[in-house]
Amino acid sequence: YRIYIPLDSSSVSRGAEKVAQRLAHGAVTKGESLTIVRNGSHGLFWLEPMIEVESAQGRVAFGPVFEDDVDSLLALRFFAPDEAGSAALEHPLCLGLTTEIPWLKKQQRLTFERVGFVDPLDVEDYRSKGGFVGLEKALGMSTQEILDEVKTSGLRGRGGAAFPTGIKWQTVSDQPAGRKYVICNADEGDSGTFADRMLMEGDPFTLIEGMIICAIAVGATQGYVYTRSEYPNACKIFTQAIENAYAEGYLGSDICGSGKHFDLELRMGAGAYICGEETSLMESLEGKRGLVRSKPPLPAIEGLFGKPTVINNVISLASVPIILSKGADYYKDFGQGRSLGTMPIQLAGNVKRPGLFELAFGVTIRELLFDFGGGSKTGKPLKAVQIGGPLGAYIAEHDWDTDLDYEHLAARGAMLGHGGIVAFDNQTDMSQMARFAMEFCELESCGKCTPCRIGAVRGAEVIDQLLDAKGDDKLERKELLDDLCETMEQGSLCAMGGMTPFPVKSALKYFPEDFGLTKDTGA
Ligand code: NAI
Ligand code: SF4
Repeated sequence: YRIYIPLDSSSVSRGAEKVAQRLAHGAVTKGESLTIVRNGSHGLFWLEPMIEVESAQGRVAFGPVFEDDVDSLLALRFFAPDEAGSAALEHPLCLGLTTEIPWLKKQQRLTFERVGFVDPLDVEDYRSKGGFVGLEKALGMSTQEILDEVKTSGLRGRGGAAFPTGIKWQTVSDQPAGRKYVICNADEGDSGTFADRMLMEGDPFTLIEGMIICAIAVGATQGYVYTRSEYPNACKIFTQAIENAYAEGYLGSDICGSGKHFDLELRMGAGAYICGEETSLMESLEGKRGLVRSKPPLPAIEGLFGKPTVINNVISLASVPIILSKGADYYKDFGQGRSLGTMPIQLAGNVKRPGLFELAFGVTIRELLFDFGGGSKTGKPLKAVQIGGPLGAYIAEHDWDTDLDYEHLAARGAMLGHGGIVAFDNQTDMSQMARFAMEFCELESCGKCTPCRIGAVRGAEVIDQLLDAKGDDKLERKELLDDLCETMEQGSLCAMGGMTPFPVKSALKYFPEDFGLTKDTGA
């Protein structure tokens, strides 16, 4: 029998290693022969460690399984559900067939289709589940045909800025032949986000395949995946996946016998949020301090070491194989308006069921919070959500029926960013959340421009003064804070200083009472 135990960081942090050890030991003691496969997480974090047992009907899931549960499951011969019959299925931890678990069944998994189902390091398993079909197709196409397919799909940058991926690739492809690079930005720094990590830990070959297709399309021969030191598990798995891809001829000097050449390396940053900004990431890759560069020149024209460079987020690149294998029309059938395809939404904070839900654009915030997330974990009413990381705006309940897509959120002064949603209950003091945004910017600023470097320090001070002030003085402090936010927004060189005012202004607008202001004075 095969038993799947996740090796994803979320499961490991909840004791998956101990479960694996106890299970292996228990099986030996009982003289049972079983194979333990370490897979990625299905993203249902409240059920982790969720282990699965192969049966004639498909995988049967149990979760959350902790070390102390293993003996009771072994006693039931749960690892042999076909033989154990209904006893295993009636165990309180049994969740039934994995594919029938409601939160998985309701999703539209394209990019994360294989995550949880595939052995992350087994090339043959990857191939058997549709892996490398996109690459095979790309190898039979002209570079312009690949670029057109990506453009037609409507794929936009999933790192946060939502720039059309095909146009970015076309710009690099149009540069004169010579040294070009593909960089995968895996420096996932937004609070409440974990999609990049889950993909790298659960299905790394999809990212590798997407990068190879990109390299072929733009004429690049060297790629880098830049990730963070806080992701040691992802680094370990991904490094091994690169080695396995080389061994199978998917990387190196003659990709699948095509004569095409692409080398790939993983690089680990030292853990600065600003190194997720594309130009400081490239500085860091070049061995320098992660200082933001002015744009233009765009990386697509003068990027890494001054050469044309595609720099895309993990999810953008990992969405490419399915676009090539199933076609751009299939992909763009999901979603709505100019937000096409699917988005892996990462739900965190005060919800009963946190995790990753890949859905077509268009689901509402309320549906996500309650149908998927199960509402507040503390039982206290939810008050606000922050979407798009620490620099995203706070959204109050009257806007929770907004569709999650780029345009609908932008119309409400918010943004989807990398798809992270963090929920807060009514015990949260939004003035402190606003202060935290300024403090975060103060700590993480690269220091290159004044509105961000100095503005963030003054911002935290003015918020403190505003909270202490009374009467007209309070209104003056509020005006000063408004002015400062405008200066940061208009005068900062990059999104770090430019977006820090978003959470501050939205907290003031929707929750003025937390600052001792009224609706009229807060907005
Ligand atoms: P941007 O709007 O300046 O650029 C978007 C991308 O398009 C860049 O790669 C840029 O080089 C490229 N681009 C723009 N015009 C182009 C053209 N004509 N041809 C080719 N390429 C072109 O946005 P930026 O500053 O790169 O990213 C800001 C976003 O990053 C924010 O919206 C935020 O959501 C997100 N973010 C994500 C984080 C994460 O952990 N994933 C962390 C922090 C911010
Ligand atoms: Fe650096 Fe902040 Fe200026 Fe960005 S806005 S360049 S992080 S100082």
